[in-house]
Formats: sequence, structure tokens, C-alpha cells
Amino acid sequence: MPVPDASSDQGRWPGESLRATAVSRSYEGVQALREVTVEVHRHEVVGLIGPNGAGKSTLVNLMSGFDRPTSGAIELDGHDVTRWPAHRRGRKGLARTFQHSRSFRGLSVRENVEVAAIGVGARPRDARRRATELLELLGLAARADAPAASLPHGDERRLGVARALATEPHYVLMDEPAAGLPEAEVPDFAAVVRAVRDDHEAGVLLIDHNMALIMDVCDRIQVLDQGRMLAAGTPAEIRDNLDVAAAYLGESAVEEETEA
Ligand SMILES: Nc1ncnc2c1ncn2[C@@H]1O[C@H](COP(=O)(O)OP(=O)(O)O)[C@@H](O)[C@H]1O
Ligand SMILES: [Mg+2]
Repeated sequence: MPVPDASSDQGRWPGESLRATAVSRSYEGVQALREVTVEVHRHEVVGLIGPNGAGKSTLVNLMSGFDRPTSGAIELDGHDVTRWPAHRRGRKGLARTFQHSRSFRGLSVRENVEVAAIGVGARPRDARRRATELLELLGLAARADAPAASLPHGDERRLGVARALATEPHYVLMDEPAAGLPEAEVPDFAAVVRAVRDDHEAGVLLIDHNMALIMDVCDRIQVLDQGRMLAAGTPAEIRDNLDVAAAYLGESAVEEETEA
């Protein structure tokens, strides 16, 4: 038996990661991403930050299969999945949340989570159990029977996270999941992200403008600007990177309010 390496989990899931290699995407003249590389391993939280329009959501769309790169490749656990549709990647353990809600507004909060579990093959009884656990984890248990359409913005984001986790993913891409969350509830959300990493042993790509949350929960951070990867490092390294701090960390907090 190999001795576990406490400083790295790579030995536990050999060959397993979600990786975008040198991906580019242009939309009719707009170069949204230029040769961006990012890798997420099981059991780690990678932060992705940068100003509005930097290409963060585009990268999530490419990695999850909602869009295709103009060039470059996406690999999931060593398989080239660049041409795979999103649902096929979903069955291989990849889940995402959306910057704008995609919940079924006519269904209850609980039903929304159950439907997500059933979508990846869970039996109704297991789907119900998962929904109960996840609504508890996300602090939505009291609203389980409310129509999803009635949720305030912050709760709606967390429902999106519950729906993603209902598929029992190995990798979760979270696109601004804490937007609209009152500041007092951010620490609880940080605990959720840690639980996804430590209890579910999933890899998380976390996009958020809340720097306190990002610095608190991320193992590594990558900074995107105008479609290019500007910097990468530990939270301490990113905090000490004056260029990043001056250009992006300060202004991004302000931009959150003006997000389209
Ligand atoms: N479907 C699309 N069609 C045209 N332009 C797009 C599309 N999606 C994104 N873009 C453009 O790509 C750039 C990056 O957008 P996006 O990935 O949403 O940035 P972020 O999530 O970092 O705010 C922006 O200039 C945006 O207008
Ligand atoms: Mg975005």
C-alpha cells in the first residue's frame, strides 16, 4: 500500500481531474477566452476571479459542455470530453450552477432537488433522502415546500447549489453562488463549500466577487482578465500580488452590484 501523502490528495484519485487546456472562445469578434488552462482535482477548491466580462462564465460553459471551445480541449478524468454534451458529462460526475437561476419555478424547492437527483438515475426514495440532506445543508429546510418561484435571490442561488449536489458530483462548477446572500450568511455558505470538498470529496471551481469568501475557502486561486489568465497562486500569494489587488480585487466588490 502506498503511504498517503497528507500534503496532496492526487495519489487518492490517480488520473482524476477536470481540466481545460489552452481553451479559446470567440463570439463574433469578441475574444472571450484566450488559451486558458485550469485544472480542478478532487477534494480541492479552486477560486476563479476577475472583473465582469473577464470570461469566467464562458469558461464554466466550456468545461460543463454548455458551449464548445473555438480551440483547446476539455478533459474529465483523462477522457477528452470536448465534444461531449453537458448531460453526458453530468453522468460522469460533473455538475454546475448557473449565474442566472434555472430552477423549475412551478415546483417546490424540495421537488427541484429531487428532480435533479432523478435526472442522473436516482430512485425516488433516494432522491427524497438526498433532497432532505441537501436542503438541511444549504439552510433551505424551512422552505422545502415553498414554490421555487417564491425564493429570494440568495436562497435561489443556494437551491442551484443543492440541485448540483443532488447529482453527487465529483466536480462542481459554481458560478457566483453567493451573490445576493446577506453578508451575515456568507460564513454558513463557506461551510457548505468546505463540506462539498471535505465530506463529498468533490473538486470545486468557485466563481465569486466576495473576496472574503474566496480568500477563506479556496486552496488555489486563478485570476482572469479580458479572457487571459493573469495570475494563479495560493490565497496569500494572490493577496500579495499588488497588480491583482489594485486592478481587480478592489473594483470587483463594487461591480457585484451592477452585474447584469
Ligand atoms: N453567447 C455569447 N455571445 C456573445 N458574446 C458573449 C457570449 N457569452 C459571453 N460573451 C462575451 O464574452 C465575454 C466574457 O463574458 P462572460 O464569460 O460572461 O464573463 P464573466 O462571467 O467573467 O463576467 C464578454 O465580453 C461577453 O459579452
Ligand atoms: Mg459570469
